[in-house]
Amino acid sequence: MIRSSAPGKIFLFGEHAVVYGEPAVAAAVDLRATVTVEERDDDSVRVSAPDLGINSASLPLQKLGRGHPDHPELDYVFRSVAEMDVSLGVDVTVESEVPVGSGLGSSAAVTVATIHALARFTGRELSRGEVARRARSVEVDVQGAASPTDTHVSAHGGANIVHPDRNSHESVALPDVEFVAGDTGQRGSTAELVENVRVLKDRHDTITDIIHAMGRLTEEGADALERGDTDAVGELMNVNHGLLEALGVSTPLLARLVHAAREAGSPGAKITGSGGGGCMVALDASGVADAIAESGGRAIPLEPDTEGVRAE
Ligand code: MEV
Repeated sequence: MIRSSAPGKIFLFGEHAVVYGEPAVAAAVDLRATVTVEERDDDSVRVSAPDLGINSASLPLQKLGRGHPDHPELDYVFRSVAEMDVSLGVDVTVESEVPVGSGLGSSAAVTVATIHALARFTGRELSRGEVARRARSVEVDVQGAASPTDTHVSAHGGANIVHPDRNSHESVALPDVEFVAGDTGQRGSTAELVENVRVLKDRHDTITDIIHAMGRLTEEGADALERGDTDAVGELMNVNHGLLEALGVSTPLLARLVHAAREAGSPGAKITGSGGGGCMVALDASGVADAIAESGGRAIPLEPDTEGVRAE
């Protein structure tokens, strides 16, 4: 039996703009997806995902590419098995602390952990970079578009600035901060939200300027993180939230949670991830989690993860 786990993440700066090649800063957090792989004595792939209420969904090894007709939510897992060219039947069990579709990187965490576990299962040693590359290819296959951010951060851990245009990334020091996420319980589709932004951008030239501004803001945010200037980080998170509102990816509840967190004393609060529901994230201060809960969100305290994907 082989078991691997990988963390979820928060975007501190640059979601959506990163789809157009602008840099983004994201940090791995201490919520993990854990994937267990066991050999079977037939040539099918059987997946169970108790957190999704799925006891067992099977496909023959030869038919993984099209995914399971009744369980599209397992596409990331079946496509990962196809990506890794596994030639034996396997049982794959997925357990995740990362709420699905919340903007906290659940699909990347599951995909990275699955690729890592399958590599070990088939006796291959993949670098973190190679795990991230393969996991991103699975995400692109399933979603149609995906920046390298989520899979990179989940594989490597820590906070990173990702530059898709230069195909490069650097780690960024995080000051001694804690975060709290506020889950709206509403679920948006990343593919749809990315498409909505694309349509808006095609209709108005100004949107291109907003996307460039997000990229510059991300660079400033990364510098502020490196300097340990939490006030500047918070201010820039607030500005980033305003620009995400301008792109139309906020919802009334997300906005309410963001403002409740700031009123309770958080220096910075914004949407994290694709929006349309999902989560906001705030720099933590006493009372912020309570304010999020009182305003209708589920407060999730988060600490940075520095390990990335690991064998369990
Ligand atoms: C989704 O978590 C973040 C987006 O920027 C899409 C992506 O980076 O692939 C909206």
